[in-house]
Amino acid sequence: MSNQLQSNAQIEPSLDGNAEISKGNLSNIRPVPRITIQAFSETEIVAQTLELTSKDRRMARAHVKVLMGGIPAAVDFYGSAPTPNLVIVESKLVGDELLASLGRLAEVCDPDTKVVVIGHVNDIFLYRELISNGVSDYLVAPVSMADLMTTISDIFVNPDNEPLGKIIAFMGAKGGVGSSTICHNVAWSISSKYKSEVVLADMDLAFGTANINLDQDPPQGIADAVYSTERMDDMLLDRLLAKCAEHLSLLAAPSTLDRTYDFHKDAFSGILEIAQRSSPVVVVDVPQQWTAWTQSVLTAADEVIITATPDLANLRNAKNILDKLAELRPNDQNTRLVLNQVGVPKKPEISVSDFIAPLEIEPSAVIPFEPTLFGTASNNGQMISEADANSPIVSHFDFLARLVTGKAELKVEKKSPLGFFSRLSRK
Ligand SMILES: Nc1ncnc2c1ncn2[C@@H]1O[C@H](COP(=O)(O)OP(=O)(O)OP(=O)(O)O)[C@@H](O)[C@H]1O
Ligand SMILES: [Mg+2]
Repeated sequence: MSNQLQSNAQIEPSLDGNAEISKGNLSNIRPVPRITIQAFSETEIVAQTLELTSKDRRMARAHVKVLMGGIPAAVDFYGSAPTPNLVIVESKLVGDELLASLGRLAEVCDPDTKVVVIGHVNDIFLYRELISNGVSDYLVAPVSMADLMTTISDIFVNPDNEPLGKIIAFMGAKGGVGSSTICHNVAWSISSKYKSEVVLADMDLAFGTANINLDQDPPQGIADAVYSTERMDDMLLDRLLAKCAEHLSLLAAPSTLDRTYDFHKDAFSGILEIAQRSSPVVVVDVPQQWTAWTQSVLTAADEVIITATPDLANLRNAKNILDKLAELRPNDQNTRLVLNQVGVPKKPEISVSDFIAPLEIEPSAVIPFEPTLFGTASNNGQMISEADANSPIVSHFDFLARLVTGKAELKVEKKSPLGFFSRLSRK
């Protein structure tokens, strides 16, 4: 709220030429990361300010959608749609009516979604009540473009805050088990179904397949990032990313043998940190190797997914990897197991129940062997859902996407939200 008092108003005519839109002081505002923002305004002037703000260069990485209808429209919308990183709602309500209305919104919001309210009364008690209930900021209309951008940037760019993004790492228990295929398809699902911005980093520099599977051939990618760590920042990362889909960007492997790829333990930590500050989801395809740097990437990840096929060598390796990760990540219980290529004709296999018994872990997905579908998709540079949207395999990737982004557990959490407005919505 205080930022608004400092706004050094420059007035822009509104899009329809009636009301006036204030720019405010736009200097010193940092670019906003790769987040999704949806706004539900009640007045035309606020909607237009949001629209103009979304076109500013500092917002170029963000995806912004501006809708009308205020909080009731947002409640309606999120009853059946995933919530973005930030929801901005305008409301003319005050006091208990506003709190009750936000309580209804909290019931349909993911716990990690941030909420900013644009109100019409300058009331410090209301402001405090909203902030103590988990609302990230309360702005008083009319807002300037600078007010909006400062608020967004304070929430998502502040270096004192936790990094925005979650690192989700995939590795096979053995070579060729399908870990990369699953990694790319889950990244695709998070970005296309759940509309979250994803950076996919292919760390298999010599043999990576993300470029083939996503039908991309960028001239630059992860090799440029890892060999220019001292110059690495969010601008350079932007230049190295290849855009694969509306919400999916790839840090591609060179997939050439022009040099050897021996990295020190922390070679990728700077890149991951920058990616994590600029994108809410960073999916990492880790090659099947046990080196100082692969161990360090897996240890740093928020989620680790190990893919195995049902034979003895995979079982032995999966057991060793899961045990080692439990030791390296004693406070994270979330290493996941995916069984893949189950049911290869004529191949003797360990049954799913016998495979998981010694591992003491429920598989997050059991994916059948489907050579025609997987072969067609990879030869055409397609994701599985592009090759056959109706295949039941697609639902495994969608489920894994929900699981690793925390949305699968959300169904339970939504009944008793832990994040924004938890106290009120429980009343
Ligand atoms: N469920 C499946 N059914 C049939 N084929 C599959 C299945 N999953 C993956 N494949 C195929 O298996 C091959 C190996 O997959 P992928 O490259 O993803 O494995 P990987 O574990 O990443 O291997 P690498 O160790 O080389 O990195 C690919 O041709 C892929 O299309
Ligand atoms: Mg691979």
